[in-house]
Amino acid sequence: MPGAIYAEGLVKTFGDVKALDGVDLDVPQGTVLGLLGPNGAGKTTAVRCLTTLLRPDRGRAVVAGFDVLEHPNEVRRSIGLSGQFAAVDEYLTGRENLQMVGRLYQMRAGAAKARAAELLDRFDLADAADRTAKTYSGGMRRRLDLAAALVVSPPVMFMDEPTTGLDPRNRQLLWEVIKRLVSGGTTLLLTTQYLEEADHLAHDIAVVDHGRVIARGTSDELKARTGGERVEVVVHEREHITVAREVLSGFGKGETTVEQHTRKLTVPVTGGAKLLAEVIRELDSRGIEIDDIGLRRPTLDDVFLSLTGHVAEAKAEESEAEGQGQAEGQGQAEGQSEKETVR
Ligand SMILES: Nc1ncnc2c1ncn2[C@@H]1O[C@H](COP(=O)(O)OP(=O)(O)OP(=O)(O)O)[C@@H](O)[C@H]1O
Ligand SMILES: [Mg+2]
Repeated sequence: MPGAIYAEGLVKTFGDVKALDGVDLDVPQGTVLGLLGPNGAGKTTAVRCLTTLLRPDRGRAVVAGFDVLEHPNEVRRSIGLSGQFAAVDEYLTGRENLQMVGRLYQMRAGAAKARAAELLDRFDLADAADRTAKTYSGGMRRRLDLAAALVVSPPVMFMDEPTTGLDPRNRQLLWEVIKRLVSGGTTLLLTTQYLEEADHLAHDIAVVDHGRVIARGTSDELKARTGGERVEVVVHEREHITVAREVLSGFGKGETTVEQHTRKLTVPVTGGAKLLAEVIRELDSRGIEIDDIGLRRPTLDDVFLSLTGHVAEAKAEESEAEGQGQAEGQGQAEGQSEKETVR
């Protein structure tokens, strides 16, 4: 039986751009799929096809048990969507925006009011609740839009880059909201360029590039494809580099690389934290002072690079062509290495 979100061979072409080139997806109920890919990969197009906003040229999709082409209204009634660009009514206050959504979904006035108040609180908008949305900052609008998508609790949710433009605290807040939703049984498809985010939230990740799913798996499975872990050491004294290199080579499973100007040495290893402890003891017994040492596991960034041969970054001409002012927080979470550091 197909999952709560199911797609088979979705194709969508705009002129000579093949935005989707045969996308297959299957998201079991109550799980989160992270759709991960760089600008222009086709994430939003996939979301728009699955949420009935766009007709695919080819392929089939079933959402919450309904075929998106045959039963678009039933699909719409079963889903919540927070699009890439916040869709709030500028001339209504935050509270009015949320109450209006409740009323649109036939909630009683009292219930809509209570739900609005609860969500304003949860998204840290209570203080600004009675100001018109046009006075909101970008991050506040985004939060209001996400709150609007949660007024009713639909069984299937789509969030297109929900945390782009949110500051770290609000990102954290949204992650908590998402986790709570999913533990209540909601199925979620989330797009993101933040590898760390997919890592954190998604049960399963589909990496998209040029309208195709190029890899699929859990974050651990994808990381395993990139190969093993490394020990990174920064020695305090430049004179110690040679000895430290000798020590590391004794533990390593490959060549030790040295970055002279940062006094950083890196070596591929197997053996995890236990080995790290041994390396520290050995360096210490040789009298080598260390500024930093850690076990570095491959990040999803590394995975993306190894899968696509390029980093998950905007191609300048594409983002310009889109001209949509991709939100400001881009890249803030990228390139962060997952590091267990011992000081
Ligand atoms: N309405 C449209 N008309 C023409 N081309 C489009 C349209 N919508 C999307 N495209 C093109 O399809 C491709 C995929 O776009 P899409 O918006 O799905 O990418 P994305 O993965 O969501 O990117 P981003 O990370 O920038 O949001 C891009 O090359 C884009 O320019
Ligand atoms: Mg997009």
